[in-house]
Amino acid sequence: MKAITIPRFGDADVLRLDEVEIPEPGPGQVAIDVAYAGANFAEILYRQGLADVPLPFVPGIEVSGRVRALGPGVEGLRVGQPVAALTIVDSGGYAEVVVTSAELVAPLDGYALELGVAAALPSNSTTAFLVLDRVARIEPGESVLVHAAAGGVGSQLGQAARLLGAGRVVGAVGSPAKVEAARAFGYDEVVLREEAAEAGRFDVVVDMVGGAARRGSLDLLAPMGRMVVMGNASGARDVGIPANELWLTNKTVSGFNLAAFSAAFPETAGQALRRVVAGAASGELRVRVESLRLEQAAQAHRRIESGRTTGKLVLEVERH
Ligand SMILES: NC(=O)c1ccc[n+]([C@@H]2O[C@H](COP(=O)([O-])OP(=O)(O)OC[C@H]3O[C@@H](n4cnc5c(N)ncnc54)[C@H](OP(=O)(O)O)[C@@H]3O)[C@@H](O)[C@H]2O)c1
Repeated sequence: MKAITIPRFGDADVLRLDEVEIPEPGPGQVAIDVAYAGANFAEILYRQGLADVPLPFVPGIEVSGRVRALGPGVEGLRVGQPVAALTIVDSGGYAEVVVTSAELVAPLDGYALELGVAAALPSNSTTAFLVLDRVARIEPGESVLVHAAAGGVGSQLGQAARLLGAGRVVGAVGSPAKVEAARAFGYDEVVLREEAAEAGRFDVVVDMVGGAARRGSLDLLAPMGRMVVMGNASGARDVGIPANELWLTNKTVSGFNLAAFSAAFPETAGQALRRVVAGAASGELRVRVESLRLEQAAQAHRRIESGRTTGKLVLEVERH
């Protein structure tokens, strides 16, 4: 089958369209004929060698498509069924066929959801709900600040906050060009990142930018406020969290990583995925998707790395 591989770590040029073996599902797994694969920041980190994975490596943490085969012991899914799935535990989504745990699959039958849109949900939308619900433990009426608010995950966090009953929901973006894009995702207010200090105090701050944004975010927390650290898109050096300051000011800092969460708690991750699929199908959760061909994976990576994209890029694997 065709797959995009990482033959060696490096910049986007290392990505290669290859012929590789078709994977077979093991116990508790399903094989999926991939229609679209989401393109994510995480796959860039794999490509850069930030995770110690065996090479050549097929990246790809989320897909949509149709069930191709069921492994031993799998119930409740059927061959041919349209699905969205997290493939984040073992990757492999940039391919014509991928294998993943049946627990990380969301059936799409009965939903009027295009497969291109469905491929954009598993990573960012699921993360948004888990971060706010399970990690920040948001309470009705609480205020929320989301960094990189026009991005893939940022565009979902503002909406998830609203659906979970938040009060004031503010987005911070890195450039004026992104203000309108973030507003279109339902933020009450959108501020430039360097002006976030004047935006008030927040019960919850979600930071996936890192560096100065992370350090500044700590100062934006209200008493009993929680900051969730969930990425480092700026590539900045790690920021030391002053534990004594947390103690003296009643602040909490926690972390979230969907890959590790999905490996440890696949049932909960799968439930959250099925929830966001239903939300997107009903229209309460909006994603803005742009589609490229699988062969254009390097272009997708370069665009994500430029920091200028808004919404979500997906790779079309099977022609429609
Ligand atoms: N922990 C998890 O499980 C999890 C799940 C999903 C995503 N993430 C993380 O969340 C972050 C965003 O992911 P995404 O899918 O939303 O990607 P994305 O749409 O490409 O958003 C990334 C955004 O980060 C901001 N940014 C700041 N400095 C940057 C730089 N030097 N290079 C590139 N972008 C920069 C940009 O927004 P502004 O211009 O507004 O600053 C950019 O649009 C990534 O770090 C990703 O790893 C983590």
